[in-house]
Amino acid sequence: MKDRIENLLNEIEAFTASGKEQVEEFRIKILSKKGKITELFDDFKTVAPELRKEIGQQLNELKNKAQDKINILKEKFEGGDASQNKDIDLTLPGEMMPLGSRHPLSIVRNQIVDIFGRIGFTVSEGPEIEDDWHNFTALNTPHDHPARDMQDTFYISENPDIVLRTQTSSVQVHIMEGSKPPIRTISPGRVYRNEAISARAHCQFHQVEGLYIDKKVSFADLKQTLLYFSKEMFGEETKIRLRPSFFPFTEISAEMDISCPFCAGKGCNICKGAGWVEILGCGMVDPAVLENCKIDNTQYSGFAFGMGIERITMLKYQINDLRLFFENDVRFLKQFKSVI
Ligand code: DAH
Repeated sequence: MKDRIENLLNEIEAFTASGKEQVEEFRIKILSKKGKITELFDDFKTVAPELRKEIGQQLNELKNKAQDKINILKEKFEGGDASQNKDIDLTLPGEMMPLGSRHPLSIVRNQIVDIFGRIGFTVSEGPEIEDDWHNFTALNTPHDHPARDMQDTFYISENPDIVLRTQTSSVQVHIMEGSKPPIRTISPGRVYRNEAISARAHCQFHQVEGLYIDKKVSFADLKQTLLYFSKEMFGEETKIRLRPSFFPFTEISAEMDISCPFCAGKGCNICKGAGWVEILGCGMVDPAVLENCKIDNTQYSGFAFGMGIERITMLKYQINDLRLFFENDVRFLKQFKSVI
């Protein structure tokens, strides 16, 4: 019995075929009801009881090997292996993998980082879940300050000291607490406000904060930095204008408009006939904020600014509905190509 098993095993291992038909013939010879393996199983009855365990195992292994070999050969001749299939032209070019594209907000964020990077601004990030101190109090906005009403804050119900940050200005505080001037950095990131979702507002959006602290930093430095940014972002012919405004953490404060990039200041429906569109808030860092962050305000001064990435992106690409940024509709997303 053992010899017969061994011979058959050798036969199976040595078998090769040049076509489907030969494989089928081989299967019938070995594995069918009248095949050699079935014969061996029939004769198993005659094996002495003390040898049954060993021989039984060998028989099972033999059957498995035969089945595997036949499966492999069948697959080979039934088109599983392209190299054997004469109908496929291997010289044809392959199918292109569809490539994704960058999200428009990422494209514009990267451009902003690049533009400020060229004049020495580093990139810093801070937490999106923030404490009251960094989001408000250190920024000169104590609990009873009316400016808190300007931003509808998401508080964590168990702990009113923890908020989802409403502005990336909170990163200013982290940076000033953790490093010494000169500081020249921008902080892009996501912010949250409890707003009803519409074409113009959302409960999450993105801002970039800018901060420059050094000796003798002036409002003229701020103005020139923002003019440089606006020209790089919207084109050389862009003009800026600063209007007096209020923010708790800057004194003096301003809002900045750029000449409308669509009508070059003549007035169109994008700028609602004004010729100007607002893009950011800015000002000189309030000495009280420097003090809160342990920076000597008799030696150092600085400027800060904050802009919405969605707003810049909408202006750049003429997008009229903020919700498109968060729907992730590929028909919208695939229109944006970038090199950055
Ligand atoms: N944090 C302000 C906001 O969310 C934007 C801002 C205004 C940032 C003036 C500043 C600034 O750094 O100086 O509306």
